[in-house]
Amino acid sequence: MVELRDVHMQFEEKKVLDGFSLKVEPQERLIIMGQSGSGKSTILRLILGTLRPSSGSIFFKQFEITRLRRRKLQQSSPAHGNGLSILGAAELAQRARQRRVAAGRANG
Ligand SMILES: Nc1ncnc2c1ncn2[C@@H]1O[C@H](COP(=O)(O)OP(=O)(O)OP(=O)(O)O)[C@@H](O)[C@H]1O
Ligand SMILES: [Mg+2]
Repeated sequence: MVELRDVHMQFEEKKVLDGFSLKVEPQERLIIMGQSGSGKSTILRLILGTLRPSSGSIFFKQFEITRLRRRKLQQSSPAHGNGLSILGAAELAQRARQRRVAAGRANG
């Protein structure tokens, strides 16, 4: 599930998204169309976590990307080093949690 809620994105003076929302469920496919410069790539970068919205909320699965700490986001983003996208980082965090739960069970 990917969701953007009331997202505003502004580059200096230029407003690119002004209260933009969308929701895509796991089985759904969404095509984003628009003229050059309308903000298609910006939407994808926001979902990947390589851009932060000026305001609004962005969710991937159960994670609110816009609430993850900036440092964590930067460490895990493709633009900052180890090549893991934020989506990958979210998956890793979830697996680590599942391992802790499993270990907890194994230890009684
Ligand atoms: N990092 C940035 N700094 C400043 N302005 C930006 C930045 N990224 C995008 N923009 C501006 O935001 C607007 C939307 O850009 P975006 O790349 O999202 O458009 P697009 O719909 O993907 O266009 P295209 O069809 O040409 O790929 C454009 O006016 C662009 O100049
Ligand atoms: Mg583009």
